Amino acid sequence: MNIFITGATDGIGKQTALELAQKGHVLFIHGKNSKRTSDTKNWIISKVPSAIIETFKADLSSLSEVKQMADEFLFLGKSIDVLINNAGVFEKHLAYSADGFERTFAINHLAHFYLTLLLLPLIKSQPSARIINVASSAQASTIDFENLNAEKGYNAYYAYELSKLCNVLFTFKLTKELSENSITVNALDPGVISTKILHSGWGIGGGSLHSGAATSVFLATSLEGGQSTGHYYENKQQYQASRAAYIKENQEKLWKISLEMSSLNLT
Ligand SMILES: NC(=O)c1ccc[n+]([C@@H]2O[C@H](COP(=O)([O-])OP(=O)(O)OC[C@H]3O[C@@H](n4cnc5c(N)ncnc54)[C@H](OP(=O)(O)O)[C@@H]3O)[C@@H](O)[C@H]2O)c1
Repeated sequence: MNIFITGATDGIGKQTALELAQKGHVLFIHGKNSKRTSDTKNWIISKVPSAIIETFKADLSSLSEVKQMADEFLFLGKSIDVLINNAGVFEKHLAYSADGFERTFAINHLAHFYLTLLLLPLIKSQPSARIINVASSAQASTIDFENLNAEKGYNAYYAYELSKLCNVLFTFKLTKELSENSITVNALDPGVISTKILHSGWGIGGGSLHSGAATSVFLATSLEGGQSTGHYYENKQQYQASRAAYIKENQEKLWKISLEMSSLNLT
C-alpha cells in the first residue's frame, strides 16, 4: 500500500514509518524540516534497504505550506491508500500560526483537516482507503467555540486536550461525509509514550516507541482497519472517546469553522 504519514521525523511517527516499511509498504513521509525528513528516510533505508520512500516538507503552522505540499503530491500523480495524520505539538506558551491561529489548534487539528480535504479527491479515487487520525486519550470534555484561539486565555494543557478532541470530532464528522465511499476513518490514542511531546509537556517518561506505533500500524494494515470506520481506538481496540466527541452539533460546528478558517470551498 501507499502510505502518507505526517510528522514522521520523530517519536511515534518515525517508528510507525519504520514498521510500515518493514512490512513492505511504500511510504510518503512528511516533516517540517527537509534535513530531518531526508535523515529519517536514510535511517529507515539503513534498516530496510528495500524501502521505497519519498519525502515531503511542510511546516504545518502555515496553511499555505500545507497547500503547497498537497499540490506537490497531487502533481506527482501517485495514489494514497492510507493517510496517517500523526504530527503534533504541545505548546508551553501561547503562540500563533502564520495564519493567526493558536498554534496547538492550528498544527494538531486545522492543518490536518486541511491536508485531508485537499488530498480527499485522490484518496476517494482508490477502491478502498483508510484515514487514521492520531488523537489522544487526553481529550477535552467540552469544546468552547469562543476560545479556539485562546481568546479567553491560554492554558497549554487545555489547548492540547482541545486539539485532540478536535481530532476525534473531525474523525466522526468525516466518517459521515464519506459514508457513501469505501474509505474508513478512525482516530486513536497511541498510549503514554516517551517522546519529546511527553517530555516537554509532562516531564515524564512513558512506554516504548514500538508500543506507541502499534495502534497506527494495526489500523493501517489489519483487516479490521479496512472495515471498521468512525471509531476511536486505544490498544488496538475500540474505546469510548470523550462524550463531547459524539455531540453532532460539535462535529458540525467544528467542520464549518474549520472550512472557514482554511478558506476551503468544497463545491
Ligand atoms: N507521546 C505520547 O505520549 C502521546 C500521547 C497521546 C498522543 N500523542 C500524539 O502522537 C502524535 C505524535 O507525537 P509524538 O509523541 O511522537 O511527538 P514527537 O516525537 O514530538 O513527534 C512529533 C512529530 O510532529 C512533527 N511536527 C511538530 N510540529 C510540526 C510542524 N509545525 N509542522 C510539521 N511537523 C511538525 C515533528 O517534527 P520534528 O521532528 O521536526 O520536531 C515530529 O515529526 C501527536 O499527534 C501526539 O499528540 C502522543
